[in-house]
Amino acid sequence: MSATVTALDITSLEVDMRHTLLLFAKALDYVGVDDCHHGHRVAYISACCAERLGWSAEKIQKSFFAGLIHDCGVSKTREHLDLLAEMAPETAQAHCERGYTALMQCSILNGFSDIVRCHHTHWDKLVSMNVDEEDRDVAALVFLADRVDFLRAGCIADHQEDLVTLHKVSISDSIKAKSGTLFCPEMVEAMCGIIETDGFWFKMEVEHIESMALTFDADEWYNQMLSVEQITEVATFLAKIVDAKSPFTYEHSIRVAQLAHYLGGKMHLPARPVICFMWQDWCTILANSEPRMNC
Ligand SMILES: [Fe+2]
Ligand SMILES: [Fe+2]
Repeated sequence: MSATVTALDITSLEVDMRHTLLLFAKALDYVGVDDCHHGHRVAYISACCAERLGWSAEKIQKSFFAGLIHDCGVSKTREHLDLLAEMAPETAQAHCERGYTALMQCSILNGFSDIVRCHHTHWDKLVSMNVDEEDRDVAALVFLADRVDFLRAGCIADHQEDLVTLHKVSISDSIKAKSGTLFCPEMVEAMCGIIETDGFWFKMEVEHIESMALTFDADEWYNQMLSVEQITEVATFLAKIVDAKSPFTYEHSIRVAQLAHYLGGKMHLPARPVICFMWQDWCTILANSEPRMNC
C-alpha cells in the first residue's frame, strides 16, 4: 500500500481508482474478527475462476475488484461470525443490502452496487432477477469465491495455511453439493478445476494479490485519478466502514475531520492541503498497522 499516495507534496494529491479499492479492502479488515484479507482472497479466487471460465479481460478485472470490496456492508461482528459459521446463513442478506445502499450514495463506486447486493443471492433465484447479465455473473462468481474462502478457513483452522491442499476434495465436494441451487453449475465446474491445482492455493498471499491489482489493464476506468471531491467522498465511506462497529467511533471520525477543517481555516490554509493531509494520514495508518482483531 506504500504506493497509494503518489504525490507527497501536500498541495496536490494523486490517487487512482485501483489503489482506492485496495485501500477499501484494507479498511474492511478492521471489521473482521479472525478473517484477515478475506476481500483480497475473494478477489483473487474470483479472478482465477473468471479466467478459467474464459471471460473477457474487462469482466475478469471487474470480478477481481468486486471481490475486493464485496463485504463493504459488513459492520456487525455477529453478522461476520454467522458468515464464518454457515455456508448460507439467514442473516447474510442484511450486509448485502447495507453495502448496496452505501455504494449507491458513493457516485464513483455505485457501479458495484448491484453486485454487492446480490453476492449472497442463491443462483436458482438470481437467474430470474432483473439484474444486468454481467453484474449477475460477477455477483454469482463472487458468492462462490466467498464460500470457497469460507471452506478454506474451516479446513486450515489453526494449522499452517498451505495444508489446505489436503482438503481439496472436500472443498470441491462441498460446492458441488450446492451446484444448481446456491451456485451456477458452470462456475462450480470451473472452480473445481482450479481447486485441484496446488499453485492456486499457494498464491494467496496478500502481497501477490495486491500486485495482481496493478497488472489488470483492460478497463481504463480503474486508471482514473480521483478529484478532491471524489477523495472526500471515498474518505467518508471509509470512515463509515472502519467506525461502523460503534456509533461513538463514527462520530469520532466526523468530529476529527470537522476539527481539522476548522483549525485549517483558522490557520488560513486552503481547503485542499487539509484534505490531502487527512488522506495521507489515513493511508499511513492503514499501511503501517494490522487489523486490531486476532489474525
Ligand atoms: Fe458477504
Ligand atoms: Fe465475504
